[in-house]
Amino acid sequence: MTIVSIANQKGGVGKTTTAVNLASAMARTGKKILLVDFDPQANSTAGMGTEPEELGRSMSDVLLGEANIADIIKETQIPGLFIAPSDFSLGNTEQKLIPMTWRETYLHKSISSLTQYDYIFIDSHPSLGLLTVNAVFASDFILIPCDIGRYSLEGFGNLINKITEVKGNGFDRKKQMRIFLTKFQSSAKVSNNWVFNQLKPYSDMLLKTRIRQNEALNQAAMLRKPIWLTKSKSPGAEDYGNLMKELTALWQNQ
Ligand SMILES: Nc1ncnc2c1ncn2[C@@H]1O[C@H](COP(=O)(O)OP(=O)(O)OP(=O)(O)O)[C@@H](O)[C@H]1O
Ligand SMILES: [Mg+2]
Repeated sequence: MTIVSIANQKGGVGKTTTAVNLASAMARTGKKILLVDFDPQANSTAGMGTEPEELGRSMSDVLLGEANIADIIKETQIPGLFIAPSDFSLGNTEQKLIPMTWRETYLHKSISSLTQYDYIFIDSHPSLGLLTVNAVFASDFILIPCDIGRYSLEGFGNLINKITEVKGNGFDRKKQMRIFLTKFQSSAKVSNNWVFNQLKPYSDMLLKTRIRQNEALNQAAMLRKPIWLTKSKSPGAEDYGNLMKELTALWQNQ
């Protein structure tokens, strides 16, 4: 079982879009996948079509020790893909964890009882707070979506340092971390060159696949479905399919 966090403290870079569509792409290859929504915004939960009123218990209850993760997991519209949902109360739960000893280990403890999944993907909150720290601590691999813009790389060093600090001595960033570009527009040459330059120190971690800016991805989110259930022939579906293939090849060779 490989646990993968999708993390970036910058908001709106495509973490949730990646979590929903990459997890779905993997499940479509016959793998058994769990998507853990670890963001109080609960966008992955909504994005997989889970209705708030049918939610019941969520990741917040799991962290508080009031529910077992296996009991909150729900089926999704994609066979083989399951979701551990979130809701806004996860934000309060994060505050409750702050005074706890070993506060960074709570998510790890909750998911380590699960053995039946091939991959667990964790969608994280846009901050470097305790939720993201828990997600990183629990993960074997960190996937960092990066959009194209003047401020895209601001705070990037802090993110990498935080990941390195949380993972400790055994962490090998060449094996356990990858960056990829999202919302890519080949026509935006000046912006692209600026970001490519900024990414030079991280070139050993940059994936080949770029996720193009594609309205079909945005529309799928509005319909609360993965792209495979709305426009499976779109550039967005093609790019997330390629991301899945590139990562699978990487993980198989490790
Ligand atoms: N490749 C893309 N093309 C077009 N729209 C996209 C693309 N990727 C993401 N979006 C849209 O951009 C917005 C932000 O994406 P998303 O919610 O995935 O980011 P996020 O990093 O999870 O945000 P947050 O930090 O708030 O959790 C959403 O409206 C989403 O539909
Ligand atoms: Mg999100």
